[in-house]
Amino acid sequence: MISEKIREDFPVLQNNKGLIYFDNAATSLKPIQVIEAVNYYYKNLGANVHRGNHHLSQQATQLYEKSRKETSKFLGAKEDEIVFTRNATESINAVCVGLERQKYFSKGDEIIITALEHHANIVPWQELCKRTGAVLKIAKLNEDFTLNMRDLQEKVSKKTKLVSVGHASNTVASILPVKEIGKIAHDSGALFLVDAAQSVPHFEVSTKKIDADFLAISSHKMLGPTGVGILYGKKDLLEKMPPYNYGGSMISKVSYEKTEWAPLPEKFEAGTMPIAEVIGFGEAIKYLKKIGMENIHAHEKKLLSHALEKMRKIEGVKLYCPQDAEKQGGIVLFEVKGIDAVDLGVALDESKNIATRSGMHCAEPIVSSLNSKGLGRASFYLYNTIEEIDIFVDEVTAISNAFK
Ligand SMILES: Cc1ncc(COP(=O)(O)O)c(C=O)c1O
Repeated sequence: MISEKIREDFPVLQNNKGLIYFDNAATSLKPIQVIEAVNYYYKNLGANVHRGNHHLSQQATQLYEKSRKETSKFLGAKEDEIVFTRNATESINAVCVGLERQKYFSKGDEIIITALEHHANIVPWQELCKRTGAVLKIAKLNEDFTLNMRDLQEKVSKKTKLVSVGHASNTVASILPVKEIGKIAHDSGALFLVDAAQSVPHFEVSTKKIDADFLAISSHKMLGPTGVGILYGKKDLLEKMPPYNYGGSMISKVSYEKTEWAPLPEKFEAGTMPIAEVIGFGEAIKYLKKIGMENIHAHEKKLLSHALEKMRKIEGVKLYCPQDAEKQGGIVLFEVKGIDAVDLGVALDESKNIATRSGMHCAEPIVSSLNSKGLGRASFYLYNTIEEIDIFVDEVTAISNAFK
């Protein structure tokens, strides 16, 4: 059980009375503990990490590395398997560029993604295919928006070099059976990347249990600051993979003739990193752990089931998700007949201070295949309540009635 008292930890909820924040799939709100951790760094330390001999730099380094330790424990990984980036998008790009520099892909090799991917897990591979002559294949969905495993299995072959899938969709909300998908990928000798931007914030994910080779997440979707992404990679793979950024901090020795890379994970952290934000991210993990990922998941399932049950009954509303809390995350993608998705989003905001998202949701191929003008999306997190869903459902009903 999550107490409503936790809402007091979120200044945006306190400073915007009556706000119903249902745009969590875009970014989450941040608790005061995270904001204070960021402030602590700026007010008390301010120094760069890894490079100063003075005590401020050493303290900043300690806090920065403590966040890495928290992250590695949270994901069931080793510390040197955790690389900080700018966001999940950069984490995926890091693998894409790194594998390309490793000459891992050749003409005719195949990369498999699914029909529910975010642009972050489409565009880097599309561009890589243009450069290398590899071929991008898309595994289909079933009618209920879950992944068609038979189609995926049929698409995987000896030509497959990488299977890269979203763990939980940011649109149709389906949760993919990543353990099974990883096994299919590995059995055919392919690498397996999981875009976990929408799963890790909401339920426990262990890199070891799902046997991902790479995993990408964003701090800002899980109570942490913007500007920090996390790339998990199996140690032997990261060791083999060339860096995607070159410069200071990621080297052990430089001469005009040749440069040697720093050991993991610094090899992938070129230049000055978002120090305050990484420290804040460590605090976000601590906060999530204190509430308990199993409690967060149970709470979201309760909210989702309630929302689905009520929204199904609204005349003029069509839902685009599995409609089953066991098969999907806390996201409802929907359409209200007669009103454009953007107008719907504005109406919800103006009438009842409800923040949702409308449009293509950075996943144009899937969303435009369902509705060429875009769809509305309500996405829930630990601080949302059943009462908020009731207000939202009443307002969607009123809007739907008005546009009949
Ligand atoms: C499934 C998924 N993958 C990747 C991303 C990209 O995250 P970021 O914009 O933080 O890089 C998002 C963001 O919405 C997402 O939902």
